[in-house]
Amino acid sequence: MSELRVDFNRPVPVGREMEYMAEAVNNGHISGDGPFTKKVHALLEQVLDIPKALLTTSCTHALEMAAILLDIQDGDEVIIPDFTFVSTINAFVLRGARPVFLDIRPDTLNLDESRLEAAITPRTKAILPVHYAGVGCEMEVITEIAKRHNVAIVEDNAHGLFGKYKNQYLGTFGAMATQSFHETKNFTSGEGGALLINDPELVERAEIIREKGTNRSRFFRGQVDKYTWVDLGSSYLPSDILAAFLYGQLEQRERIQSHRKSLWDTYSLALSDWADQNGVQLPTIPAHTEQTYHMFYILMPSLELRQKLIQYLRDLGIYSVFHYLPLHLSDMGQRFGGKPGDCPVTEDVSDRLVRLPFHNGLSSSEQELTIEAILGFDF
Ligand SMILES: Cc1ncc(COP(=O)(O)O)c(C=O)c1O
Repeated sequence: MSELRVDFNRPVPVGREMEYMAEAVNNGHISGDGPFTKKVHALLEQVLDIPKALLTTSCTHALEMAAILLDIQDGDEVIIPDFTFVSTINAFVLRGARPVFLDIRPDTLNLDESRLEAAITPRTKAILPVHYAGVGCEMEVITEIAKRHNVAIVEDNAHGLFGKYKNQYLGTFGAMATQSFHETKNFTSGEGGALLINDPELVERAEIIREKGTNRSRFFRGQVDKYTWVDLGSSYLPSDILAAFLYGQLEQRERIQSHRKSLWDTYSLALSDWADQNGVQLPTIPAHTEQTYHMFYILMPSLELRQKLIQYLRDLGIYSVFHYLPLHLSDMGQRFGGKPGDCPVTEDVSDRLVRLPFHNGLSSSEQELTIEAILGFDF
């Protein structure tokens, strides 16, 4: 066994996270919506220029809030890319929705907008574009189709905070967008998320849903003299200690992003000839998008070679991982009628994708070792 270990992911403090967490404790307000939560809300609202950002306990919970806000009912249809995390759709299925799995583009691995219109029916309630790896979906086309059919867009922007499509921030196209601050993301609080709200009419109800279905936020603003149960809801507020950690990360966003860009560019440059010579596909970043450097993935020529590469790297102490399995072929997906062959691009990509070590704590020497190992892989 080699001593060497290059982690796939390692969450690290990059600025004043520890100091801010101590400050949150000393503030005497460690439940939700304390001073640090307010700072994070203000930062997101200001940078993205949106009416409202609400921190949540996860992206999954932000998606659940979106489903409640859209009044999703039994039998409503929700369109999602087949290549995504279960939460993108589970949050809507919890409210009775039926998933409509759409195949992805073979280049960006985003929802294939050319198949979108054909998937819309009178029951379609929402479209959930997922900006995979923080590379924007074709929002111009998706927005136009959604508008014409009067269907809401909720962007699952778990990977895409501060990315852009045609100079507009990801997360600002739909009625709402959801963020993840899970430890695998560019900015983290361990577990965490946010609901970004672009439609001002949804703000007040969102605050109620997030506060267990009560009008507590209005009470604290002095708009009502007591608070009470007024709607559906749950407990979606993170502790202010987590918000403090997250604020420490977000404050350092430029430093984090420039480190990640340099890691991404290094992989891309070092692996480009090797990829060409061996039939390996590297990520496609369209010129009209600004990606978030969330991950570096490669598409191996086959499932067998993908498995062989992951094992080969692991034997050297280097941890790489695959990603989503096709949702329509999962147990739940099959219960909704998913069959092999329904989404051929997802089925193919899911078999061949490898995510290389990529995180805020990755050093140049760890990355060099990883690259050297990959270049020495015997096909
Ligand atoms: C596209 C996407 N959406 C949602 C989630 C769920 O995020 P969370 O763990 O914050 O609930 C993930 C998780 O990685 C994801 O990749």
